Amino acid sequence: MAELEYTNAAARKLEDMYRTGDVIAQRVETRRLLKPCAGETVIDIGCGPGFLCEEIADAVGTSGRVIGIDVSQDFLSLATSRNHRSFLEYRFGDATAIDAPDQSFDAAVCAQVAEYIPDVDRVLTETYRVLRPGGRALFVATDWDTLVWHSDKPERMDVVLKSWEAHCAHPRLPRKLGQRLKRAGFTVAEVSTFPIVNLTWSTSTYSEGLADLVRSFVSAQNEIPLDVLALWREELEELSSAGNYFFSICRFMFLACKLG
Ligand SMILES: C[S@@+](CC[C@H](N)C(=O)[O-])C[C@H]1O[C@@H](n2cnc3c(N)ncnc32)[C@H](O)[C@@H]1O
Repeated sequence: MAELEYTNAAARKLEDMYRTGDVIAQRVETRRLLKPCAGETVIDIGCGPGFLCEEIADAVGTSGRVIGIDVSQDFLSLATSRNHRSFLEYRFGDATAIDAPDQSFDAAVCAQVAEYIPDVDRVLTETYRVLRPGGRALFVATDWDTLVWHSDKPERMDVVLKSWEAHCAHPRLPRKLGQRLKRAGFTVAEVSTFPIVNLTWSTSTYSEGLADLVRSFVSAQNEIPLDVLALWREELEELSSAGNYFFSICRFMFLACKLG
């Protein structure tokens, strides 16, 4: 099966996950590194449900401009339905062929998008192209090998996560991202990690939402019997009730500059 597509239910599930404290904290860190300023023009490449665009728009203010692009009409509809700012705009747009002139943005953010796109180098060169000299880009990506999800049935957990790996084109992008950014022309200014750790399972945690996305993607792969997947999902809840739940994953944040 193809990689994960954010249509209908998956888009709504991700929107719910992006309202959890875990992901709100990730956006706080993203903005701290990107440092959007009043009057700046910023593009969010693969903007998803648009929460980050709204927050960046509040930072750049009415003298600035924010454009969010995405290939998912469902996400664009969700984001547009909440938008009340004239200086924030959502457009259908592909990260590998950004419909914007050269040097048109002060800053760009591409959060958990590049790893989903087979031609990741094209995403980087397109981002570089649309930035003005002196501009900066923040890339956020997950290395799925950093995922630690405790189970008393580790073989079952391994099989499920192996099947989930196909949900993105580059499940270990961060370890090669620095050299890819340099090849695209960028100077890498700063690299940091952002961990998400859950010790309980509840609707207010990132991992609860992730489990639903994993189950739905893996079940469509037809590699694992549905009853095994149901037991995998049930165990997570049981572990939490028993006080034995543990989930952890790392995002990698690369701040890259286009020298003036
Ligand atoms: C995991 S979501 C991240 C959403 C958002 N950046 C965030 O962190 O809140 C991945 C997003 O990338 C989008 N996407 C995937 N391929 C894309 C492409 N070629 N061009 C633009 N967006 C793309 C998906 O539709 C989805 O919205």
